[in-house]
Amino acid sequence: MRTQVAIIGGGPSGLLLGQLLHKHGIANVILERQSADYVLGRIRAGVLEQVTVDLMEEVGVGGRMRAEGLVHDGVELLFKGARHRIDFPSLTGGKTVTVYGQTEVTRDLMAAREAAGLQTVYEVGDSVRLEGFDGTSPSVRFRHGGQEHELQCDFIAGCDGYHGVSRASVPKGAIREFEKVYPFGWLGILADVPPVSEELIYANTDRGFALCSMRSPTRSRYYVQVPLEEKVEDWSDDAFWNELRGRLDPEARERLVTGPSIEKSIAPLRSFVAEPMRFGRLFLAGDAAHIVPPTGAKGLNLAASDVKYLSDALVEHYGERSAAGLDHYSERVLRRVWKAERFSWWFTSLMHKFPGEGEIAQKLQEAELDYLVNSKAASTAMAENYVGLPL
Ligand code: FAD
Ligand code: DHB
Repeated sequence: MRTQVAIIGGGPSGLLLGQLLHKHGIANVILERQSADYVLGRIRAGVLEQVTVDLMEEVGVGGRMRAEGLVHDGVELLFKGARHRIDFPSLTGGKTVTVYGQTEVTRDLMAAREAAGLQTVYEVGDSVRLEGFDGTSPSVRFRHGGQEHELQCDFIAGCDGYHGVSRASVPKGAIREFEKVYPFGWLGILADVPPVSEELIYANTDRGFALCSMRSPTRSRYYVQVPLEEKVEDWSDDAFWNELRGRLDPEARERLVTGPSIEKSIAPLRSFVAEPMRFGRLFLAGDAAHIVPPTGAKGLNLAASDVKYLSDALVEHYGERSAAGLDHYSERVLRRVWKAERFSWWFTSLMHKFPGEGEIAQKLQEAELDYLVNSKAASTAMAENYVGLPL
C-alpha cells in the first residue's frame, strides 16, 4: 500500500486533516485503533469556536451544523450565588461560539470521508508501528483482518490522541514534555432533559465547580468537580442531580429538570504539551501533542487549528515545492497552543476548589470573578480567549 499522508487516529483531528488534504488532492489513509461506533460513542467536547465552524464549512460538512448547532452569544459565570453574563459579540467585535457535539462533528466528517471514497482502516488495535520517519521514506506497519500490512507514505500525521503510538515512537531525547495534573476530575452526565438555561453556566461554589452545558434544546450535558479518587459506579443519577442542584443559584435550582442519564463518566484534568511537534517526517496534531483541562472548551478547537496549519503546510509542500510551512509548523502551532494552555489553566484555577487550600482561596477567586465581570478590560480578555484567538 502507498499513500501521500498516513494519518494515525480517526478522531476529530485525523478526520478533519483527511478532508482538508483531500480537498487539495492529497491522498491519505487513516488507521484507527477502534471501530467507528466506538469512536462515535465517546461523549466529549461540545463548544466550537468560529475557526472550527469555518473549517467544517471549508471541507463542505457545515450543513447539519448550521441547521442543528446552537449559536451562543455569551456564557454565564455563577459565583457567590448569583449569575453574571459575559457577552461575546459586544466584547469581541461580533464573535460567537456554536454548541455542536464532538460526536456530531465526527459523524459528519466520517460521512464525508465515506462519500469521497477515502480509505479508513478501523480496528487496527495496538498494532501500528511507525518506521523511517527520520529519513525520506517513512512507512507504517499494522495488522488488520488477521494480516500484516505496510503502508508507505511521504509523511505521517500523528492524530492519535494522548495515549497514541505516534508521540510514543519519538526517541525520548528528542522530545520535551510539560505536564500539570489537577487534583480533581469532572463527573459528567448526558441526559434527555431540556437545558436549565439557554446559555452555558460555569459555577464557582464552595462545594466545587459545576458546568451546565447542552447538546440541543432537549439534551443536556452537566458536569460537577469531584475528588480524583471518586468512582463513577458510586454516583447514582440521583446523587449527581442532588450535587449539581446544590451548586446552582436559586432560580436555576428551581428550573433544573432531571432524568435518567444516557452517559456518565469521570474525566481527569491535565495540562500537557510536548515540544516540538515535528520529528523529520512525523507531525503531531491535537491531543497527541497537547492536552488542556476542559474548562473553557479548547481541546477540540486546538486539534482543529493544528490540522489547519498542518494541511496548509502540506499543500504548500506538494503545490509549491516549498518546505517553509512544514519547517515552521511546530513553532507556529505551539504559539497558539501555549495561549490556549494558559487560558484553560487560568479558567480552571479560577473556577475550581483546590483541596487543602483554605477559605482564603475561595475569597480570592470571588474577588477575581467580581473584577472579571465588572471590568470591561478583564471581560474582554476572557471573551476573546473563549471565542478563540485568530489563526
Ligand atoms: P482523540 O479524540 O483522542 O482521537 C484520537 C484517535 O486516535 C482516537 O479515535 C483513538 O482511538 C485513536 N488512536 C489512539 N491510539 C491509536 C493507535 N495506536 N493507532 C491508531 N489509532 C489510535 N474540547 C473542546 O474543544 N471543547 C469541549 O467542550 C471539550 N470538552 C471535553 C469534555 C471532556 C469530558 C473531555 C474528555 C474532553 C473534552 N474536550 C473538549 C477535548 C476534546 O475532546 C479533545 O481535545 C479532542 O477529542 C481531540 O481530538 P483528537 O482527534 O486530537 O484526539
Ligand atoms: C462542554 C465541555 C467543556 O469543557 C466546556 O468548557 C463547555 C462545554 C460540553 O461538554 O458541553
